[in-house]
Amino acid sequence: MKGNQAGAILITVYGNRAYDDTFAELQDVLEGSGFSCMAAVAAVAEHSIMRQFAKGRPDLKDKEEILKFAAEIRSKMEAGALTGELRLPGNRPYREYGGVPMKPQSGRSCIKCGLCAKECPVEAIPYDRPNKTDTDTCISCMRCISVCPQKARSVSKILLGAGSMKLKKACSERKKNELFV
Ligand SMILES: Cc1cc2nc3c(=O)[nH]c(=O)nc-3n(C[C@H](O)[C@H](O)[C@H](O)COP(=O)(O)O)c2cc1C
Ligand code: SF4
Ligand code: SF4
Repeated sequence: MKGNQAGAILITVYGNRAYDDTFAELQDVLEGSGFSCMAAVAAVAEHSIMRQFAKGRPDLKDKEEILKFAAEIRSKMEAGALTGELRLPGNRPYREYGGVPMKPQSGRSCIKCGLCAKECPVEAIPYDRPNKTDTDTCISCMRCISVCPQKARSVSKILLGAGSMKLKKACSERKKNELFV
């Protein structure tokens, strides 16, 4: 992509734990491609792996807040008040991504409809054998679990329980949506 100094609004959606260095990374990628970073929004959504955290979010309050953010960005942009010199939280070098060990597998109720294979963003599930997830390719996004009409896909309950215990403290308190302009 070539930005030619077009304005960009950075958005990160996270599962109520933390967005770590996402903005630093996004800003570096965008500015490296010639975009000008004007504003940024961090928004909370239900945790896509451990669904008990931030359950039901974005809720009504979140949606109202995000609409307010959008209006504020728009009015500042129209007033020419967004300079492209945005200061965002984050560290460089970025926090290293250690990977997520949870890789969904399909169980006995699978009817081989192929929907999970179609929807997997990295083609980790073969169409003809959806019970053979390629665990090296899988990025643990959990999309296959949410699209399966049979609820046939799941991750190890032991890993899920251990992960939930590890994240409980960091994820339990309601985090705020944030706007940076
Ligand atoms: C592989 C993976 C890693 C994640 N890492 C984090 C994280 O570091 N911090 C956090 O708060 N949420 C994390 N989450 C939760 C998601 O960011 C969040 O639930 C998600 O953005 C919900 O919206 P989405 O499904 O539209 O992405 C992670 C989710 C996945 C699948
Ligand atoms: S979406 Fe569910 S039922 Fe369909 S192939 Fe995948 S695991 Fe099987
Ligand atoms: S978790 Fe995501 S990447 Fe892994 S198999 Fe399911 S859809 Fe594909």
